[in-house]
Amino acid sequence: MLRGGGVAGAERTQDRMLKELFRNGSSREVDAPSEAQLAAMIEPAKLPKHIAVIMDGNGRWAQRRGLPRFAGHRQGIESLREITRACGELGIEILTVYAFSTENWERPKEEVNFLLNLLDEVLDRELPELHANGVRVRIIGRRSSLPPSLVKKIEAAEQLTAANNKLILNVGFNYGGRAEIVDAVKRAVSKARRGDLVEDDIDEEWLSREMYTGGMADPDLLIRTGGESRISNFLLWQLAYAEIWFTPVYWPEFRRVHLLQALVDYQQRERRFGRV
Ligand code: FPP
Repeated sequence: MLRGGGVAGAERTQDRMLKELFRNGSSREVDAPSEAQLAAMIEPAKLPKHIAVIMDGNGRWAQRRGLPRFAGHRQGIESLREITRACGELGIEILTVYAFSTENWERPKEEVNFLLNLLDEVLDRELPELHANGVRVRIIGRRSSLPPSLVKKIEAAEQLTAANNKLILNVGFNYGGRAEIVDAVKRAVSKARRGDLVEDDIDEEWLSREMYTGGMADPDLLIRTGGESRISNFLLWQLAYAEIWFTPVYWPEFRRVHLLQALVDYQQRERRFGRV
């Protein structure tokens, strides 16, 4: 609870602060609530189970500073570390982030190589802390076009952390929402040919299980940083009923306070899932 003015006073303060909150990018930063005030507004019972994040704006963050784009990707690791820690502390069950899309191969070769090496490096450097903190790491996306040494490292990381249950961290890498659906359909056709699948087996639950996130709750909240307001082929199936929160903040600058802003905003929304 916020201090001062009793319960009614605290509620008025909260109302005022909520009006100042980022709502799809519009905020008067000057009166924005502090991290501690936001933390006090969080209702643990109303937290999302699964948060998805499109980590955008790395290149622009770097270019604004006269740095090469890859400096933004490297700085983005700091944000990912902080947000993963914060999700663990808040008791979020699943965090799914978009690190490399099936379309990102079109970027300059040096940038593509940088991102491939960055995942390799992150798996080496961050895995001990992630494992020690009970984080189950999964890399979701098509593996066939990744370097075999990276695939081995991915498999080792997934195996090492498979039994962890504090937080699931899904990293989308060579991930595409349409590719994921295409792959599921192809597997279905193969199964049907072998006689292991009939038309009546196929329903929404079945298809959900066939996704890379099979068996997990769908994201309740999608956060996109960097000022764009689109989904960019991320979790197309799973985001059907997600609340979406866009912020102009570039990913390398995204901190716990911004996550709390998104969560407080999310908690004000009424989720109807198509009902009235
Ligand atoms: C989008 O920003 C970001 C990416 C394509 C890469 C995201 C990678 C990280 C945040 C680092 C974490 C990486 C791993 C491997 C775990 P952009 O480059 O499109 O930025 P722009 O829109 O400003 O150009």
